[in-house]
Amino acid sequence: MQCTDVHDRFLFRLITKKAFLYTEMVTTNAIIHGKCLNQLKFNNKIEHPVAVQLGGSEPDDLAECAKICSSLGYDEINLNVGCPSERVQKGSFGACLMEDPYLVNECIQAMQEVTSIPITVKCRIGVNKRDDQDFLNNFVRKIFNSKFKTLIVHARVAILKGLTPRQNRQIPPLKYENVYQLKKEFPELEIVINGGIKNIEESLIHLEKVDGVMLGRTPYDNPMIVSDIDSRLFNEVDIGSDRKTILKEYLDYCRDQNNHGEPYSRTLKHVFGLNRGLKNAKAFRSLILETMQKNNLEVTQSDLVSLV
Ligand SMILES: Cc1cc2nc3c(=O)[nH]c(=O)nc-3n(C[C@H](O)[C@H](O)[C@H](O)COP(=O)(O)O)c2cc1C
Repeated sequence: MQCTDVHDRFLFRLITKKAFLYTEMVTTNAIIHGKCLNQLKFNNKIEHPVAVQLGGSEPDDLAECAKICSSLGYDEINLNVGCPSERVQKGSFGACLMEDPYLVNECIQAMQEVTSIPITVKCRIGVNKRDDQDFLNNFVRKIFNSKFKTLIVHARVAILKGLTPRQNRQIPPLKYENVYQLKKEFPELEIVINGGIKNIEESLIHLEKVDGVMLGRTPYDNPMIVSDIDSRLFNEVDIGSDRKTILKEYLDYCRDQNNHGEPYSRTLKHVFGLNRGLKNAKAFRSLILETMQKNNLEVTQSDLVSLV
C-alpha cells in the first residue's frame, strides 16, 4: 500500500541501523509479468538488513521470484500468509493459505531449493473461527523444516468474509498468549510477535517470551519511536540524530529523488508523523501537504525544518 516503500525505508535508516526492514507485499504475478518492478527496488548501500515480502501460492512462481529477489541482494524472503483482503483471497494466497499448510510447505521448500537466504513466513494465529492453539501449532508443525528458522505471527485471527483488511487489523482481539505458547512448543524456531505493539517498553515485555517483535503502524505513524531501539533492543550505539537533522537529510534525499523524476507526493508523505504529538505537528503536516501538492520544496524547506 506504498507505506514501507524504498523511500520510507531510506527515512528509517536515518533513524535506526539495526531494525530489520520489510518491503510491502509484492505478488509473484507482478514480478513475473514485470509489472511492479519498482516495488522491488531497494538501496543496496544503506537498507540492509532488509527483507522482501512475496505474495503467491504457486511453488514454481515463488521459486522464480525467490531467485530474482536473492540476486537483487535481499537478506530474507518472507511469504505472506496473513493478508485477508478479498483480492488476495481471489488469488488464493495470503491468510487463506493457513488452511492449506501442505501447500505452504511446498512453497517454502521450492524457495529454499533455489536460494540460501532465509525463507520466512508471516501468518496470523488462525483464520475465521480457528483461533485455538491446536490450529496454530498444527499449521507450524506442517511447515517446519530444518532450514526454516523464523516465523512472524500477527496475534489476531484473519476473518476471511465480512471484514475489510483494515477491520481485520482492529476487530479480532489480540491473543498474544497463543504466540507465547507457540514459542514453548517450538523452542528452536525464532518467533517474532506482531500486532498492536505501541512502544519499546511493550516490546521488551514481549521479548521476555518470544525472540522478536515486529511493529507496523506505530513507527509508520511516528517514526521517532524507534530512535533508541539500536541501544535498547540491540545493545548498540544509537544513530543519535535529532528530528531536525533527520528531516534535513531526508529533504535532501527527496530533492535528489525529485531531480530524478520522483514527485514529492511519493517521498514526503512518509514524514507526516515525524513530529507527531509535538506542538507544531498540525502546522508541519499542513505544510508537507502543501509542498506535495505544489511539488515544490524550495519555498517551504526552511519552514518545514523550523517546525520540527
Ligand atoms: C496500510 C497497511 C498496509 C499493510 N501491508 C501489509 C503487507 O503488505 N504485508 C503484511 O504482511 N502486512 C501488511 N500490513 C499489516 C502489518 O504488517 C501488521 O501486521 C499489522 O498492521 C499489525 O501490526 P501493527 O499493530 O504493529 O500495525 C499492513 C498494514 C497497514 C496498516
